[in-house]
Amino acid sequence: MNVLGVESSCDETGVAWVAAHGDEPPRLLAQALHSQAAMHRDFGGVVPELASRDHIRRVLPLVRQVVADVGQTLHDLDAIAYTRGPGLAGALLVGAACASGLAAALQRPVYGVHHLEGHLLSPFLSHDPPQFPFVALLVSGGHTQLMRVDEVGRYTLLGESIDDAAGEAFDKSAKVLGLPYPGGPALSRLADFGDDTVFKLPRPLLHSGDLEFSFAGLKTAVATQARKLGPNVCEQDRAHLAAATQAAIVEVLVHKSLAALAATGLSRLVVAGGVSANSRLREQLDARCAARRVRVHYPELALCGDNGAMIALAAAMRLQRGIATPTHGYAFDVAPRWPLDQLAPAAAG
Ligand code: KG4
Ligand code: ZN
Repeated sequence: MNVLGVESSCDETGVAWVAAHGDEPPRLLAQALHSQAAMHRDFGGVVPELASRDHIRRVLPLVRQVVADVGQTLHDLDAIAYTRGPGLAGALLVGAACASGLAAALQRPVYGVHHLEGHLLSPFLSHDPPQFPFVALLVSGGHTQLMRVDEVGRYTLLGESIDDAAGEAFDKSAKVLGLPYPGGPALSRLADFGDDTVFKLPRPLLHSGDLEFSFAGLKTAVATQARKLGPNVCEQDRAHLAAATQAAIVEVLVHKSLAALAATGLSRLVVAGGVSANSRLREQLDARCAARRVRVHYPELALCGDNGAMIALAAAMRLQRGIATPTHGYAFDVAPRWPLDQLAPAAAG
C-alpha cells in the first residue's frame, strides 16, 4: 500500500510517500518540505493569507519531487491523505484541494488526517518505534497536551494547557529577547550560552496536583525581567534569561509527564510536536525516565516539526487497522478547530 501525505496546516508545506505492506511498520520512502519561516520573519509570526498563497505555489512542485524521488508514478499510489485540521482554514484548504484533486483524478480514496494524530504517531517512523499503550506529551506551537494512547484512534486527554502552548511560550519569550521567528530553536541555541540559575522564573501549575499547564504567566515574567534589564542588556544576560526560560518550561513539561505516567501506571512515554526537538527537554526526560525505568520515544529530528510524512503515516496506520474512512465525494473537507480526543476511532478524518 502506497500513501501520499500532504501537510499544509500552518507555515510548512510538506509532502511525503509512505509504503506499508501487510501489517509491517510503514516506511517513509521520500519526503519534501518547504518552510515559510523566512517569509513570515519580517512580521514576527505567521500571516495566514501569505501562508495560504505560498502553500498554493509550493504544493504541486513538492508532490512532483517526492514522486520522482521514489521513482514510481502517481498511479502507483493507493491513497492520498491530507491534514484536515486543526490549523489555519485557508492553509488547510490548499492541502485538502490538492489531495482531493489528485485523488479524484487517480480514482483513489482521500483521507483527512488529524494533525496532532500525525505528530503523536510520528515516532513510529523512528529507529526506535514505541509500542502501545503509552502516554503522549504533545508539544507544538498551538498545543500542549498529555494523552493516554491505547491504540491508533484511542486517545484520552489527561491534561492540557489552559492558555498558551509550550511552543508559544518559547516563541513569545524569544520575541521579548529580540530573537527572530520562529523563536523556539533560536531561544534554545541562545540558552546554551547561559546559566539557568541567574534569573528566577515561575514554574506555573507545577504543584497543582493535576495535569493542566499554563504558560501565559511565564511569558509575562520573562517580559518583566527583560524590562528590568533594559534595552542595553548585554549578550550574557540575554543568554542567562533564555536559559532560565527554557529551564522553567522544560521543568513543568517533565514534571507533568512523570505525573501522567504515575497516574496511568504506564511505562512508556512518547514526546512529539515541534518542541520535542528541544535538546534540554530530551536530556531531562531521558534522565528522569531512565531512573523510573520508563522508555521514552521521540520522532527523528527531521520529523519533529510539521511534515507530510506523519500525515501519510497516520493514514497508513489507520488503513492497516481497517479504521480509516475516506472523505465522501472528494469534498474539500477541513476542520480548523478539531479536538483530538473527539476523533472517533473509526474515522480517519
Ligand atoms: O509542531 P510544530 O512544528 O507546529 C505546530 O503544529 O504548531 O511546532 C512548532 C513549535 C514552535 O513554537 C517552535 O518554536 C517550537 O515548536 N520549536 C522548538 C524547537 N524547535 C521547534 N521549541 C523549543 N526548542 C526547539 N528546539
Ligand atoms: Zn504541528
